[in-house]
Amino acid sequence: MELPTRPTLFDFHGVSMVKYFTDNWENIQNFEARPDDILINSYPKAGTTWVCYMLDLLYFSNMCPERQTFVPLHERVPFLEISSPPRPKGTDLIDQLSTSPRLIKSHLPVQFVPKSFWEQRCRFVYVARNPKDSVVSYYHFGRMNGIHPEVGDWSTFLQDFMEGKMVFGSWYEHVNSWWEKKQTYSNLHYMFYEDLSENFGRETDRLCSFLGLSPSAEEKEKVRAAVMFDNMKQDKMANSSTIQIMNHEVSPFMRKGKVADWKNHFTVSQNEHFDKDYKQKMKNPELRFRTEI
Ligand code: A3P
Repeated sequence: MELPTRPTLFDFHGVSMVKYFTDNWENIQNFEARPDDILINSYPKAGTTWVCYMLDLLYFSNMCPERQTFVPLHERVPFLEISSPPRPKGTDLIDQLSTSPRLIKSHLPVQFVPKSFWEQRCRFVYVARNPKDSVVSYYHFGRMNGIHPEVGDWSTFLQDFMEGKMVFGSWYEHVNSWWEKKQTYSNLHYMFYEDLSENFGRETDRLCSFLGLSPSAEEKEKVRAAVMFDNMKQDKMANSSTIQIMNHEVSPFMRKGKVADWKNHFTVSQNEHFDKDYKQKMKNPELRFRTEI
């Protein structure tokens, strides 16, 4: 499969980006959010797709089950800032949504979110994942995704991650600034990949309570079964296999879905170096990631 020419990273208002997420900037910034829109946001590779699928099923699986069979997840929950021709722009896909609420995916740092989302008091679901697994997942994703820059070797990629030279910028700034936003903006649910992995039922209940949903035990069980890693991996509408810019032979999008896979990638000295740097950057004692497990 032929992938597009790899883009280069450039500084975009202080954040490293590639053109595929900035080319449609005017439309993104002027995006007109509706009060019931729900924005699912994360730094890349935090389990966004997992949570997008959960929300899609919680809202719509009873209403229109055929969505799951025929419509790829990236069309059910469009990616706001993406613009990678010949695929339709994220903003165009959102305009075509006929369901309500509209579920919208984004990786934008908090300062880039279109102002209408705040003005309309929209709800946000923010997904965070520990940085060591995030960088490993991002590395393999960069290898298989043609709209990301070349990843280079693992140790350079890891250093670049620590310096914020990644598409969507610094992981540290992303997770911290969304955490700070949550302190003043009550319509924001901040959740963790590791918690979802540890206790899916408890996290589903928390999410539903935030969204004001009360699915039956049977409905919750259906959602749990559908989004289990092995089932999602087989599900052509949810495993990103229909996205042409990705080469799943290099590395599948649904790669491992595990906590602490970083242990298979970090050397002892990389881990020590990372931990030291992490302590300096992550000063807020309330925002804790499980970097030791
Ligand atoms: P790995 O590369 O570690 O396997 P995003 O959707 O934000 O791009 O995140 C992708 C990561 O979430 C990948 O991590 C992917 O395997 C994992 N993931 C996706 N669906 C999952 C699921 N149902 N259960 C566990 N992990 C999942």
